[in-house]
Amino acid sequence: MGRVTGSNPVSRTMIILGIETSCDETALALIETRIQNNTFECRVISSLINSQAELHSPYGGVFPTLAKREHEKNLPLLLEKILEIATKNKLKIDSVAVTQGPGLEPALWTGITFATELSKKWNVPLIPVNHMEGHIIGSLLESDKPDGKWQKLKTLPLPAITLLISGGHTELVKIDHNQKNNPSTLASAVSPIGYFKYTIIGQTKDDAVGEAFDKVARLIGLKYPGGPRLAKLANEAREQNIQSMVKLPRPMIMNKDLNFSFSGLKTAVLYAIRDAEKDNLFNETYKKGLAREFEDSIAETLELKLRKAIDLINAKSMIIGGGVSANLVLRERFNKISEEYGIPIYLPSQHISGDNALMIALTGAINNPQSKENIKAQGTKRLGAN
Ligand code: KG4
Ligand code: ZN
Repeated sequence: MGRVTGSNPVSRTMIILGIETSCDETALALIETRIQNNTFECRVISSLINSQAELHSPYGGVFPTLAKREHEKNLPLLLEKILEIATKNKLKIDSVAVTQGPGLEPALWTGITFATELSKKWNVPLIPVNHMEGHIIGSLLESDKPDGKWQKLKTLPLPAITLLISGGHTELVKIDHNQKNNPSTLASAVSPIGYFKYTIIGQTKDDAVGEAFDKVARLIGLKYPGGPRLAKLANEAREQNIQSMVKLPRPMIMNKDLNFSFSGLKTAVLYAIRDAEKDNLFNETYKKGLAREFEDSIAETLELKLRKAIDLINAKSMIIGGGVSANLVLRERFNKISEEYGIPIYLPSQHISGDNALMIALTGAINNPQSKENIKAQGTKRLGAN
């Protein structure tokens, strides 16, 4: 146990180290959790993120071997910093939570191997964490500041709808109470955490939203990671009142189901650029207009499917997670939907909208009973350089 506060045995605290290496961010975080008045509380002690994004830029995507090498180099350096903070605060780590997947397999293994060694060395449990669940739970944090202040998680009225939008995933997930879950010491006091049941009710048939952003950005001539760069260009178009010279499709909006498809949109951009090049129109103004039109197409599609999902499950709250949730145009639309439906929306703060270890440590704390001795990477090909 990390520490025992006061004389109340219920408020024993746990110190959890989180490790994330599923893609091109090496991240480590340290949190402390406790049960106070039957409520789960946590405090952020440290959250470090080392992004390799610029290193992968020349490859136009994440290059797995390079990611692996960088993770191996960065992990010990970040650990040294975290341990320094732990020692200064007299904190002893009680468990290690690590991303098991989905992600790039070579990248995942570096984190898993590192975490396994630490758990053996310190003789503490090893907790596998699903990266996507991490993005969901991360959005429930009140604050990501490593200020050591105790906080409760946001209450999540159920059923909730989650829209996960990242470089590897585009999913609509329904969250209900998990009746079957055996309440653990931690989970039982956390209600509704520990009682979550996830059902994927919609997903992309091909490219993920972030992947579409990155690929289209590349077509326009922007460097990887293209998502934020393309969003910036689209914003300039709005500021300068530049309209697109082409109309792009709104994929899958006529379909009744909740699935997405973005590869056709990418192809439409490709053809538009070819035509514009032929006619000598492919200049900065054209690019800005195109970026704006692309972002609008994505925003309209996501909004429509999200509304459908809310209606279908009669959602009482919504969570948006994943790297693309940093997009301001999308955030504005999602906030409007929340206002209109009168249901709360939980969006991750900027610091944890991308990959981070804070969400992994937190999800690990909540899933503590699932601690394992040996875990395997659950890799999926995503964001690979192509
Ligand atoms: O969740 P994340 O950090 O990594 C994965 O788990 O995939 O998401 C990364 C993705 C990238 O495709 C990146 O281009 C995209 O999120 N992204 C954005 C923005 N910021 C990051 N896409 C659009 N607009 C943004 N502002
Ligand atoms: Zn992610």
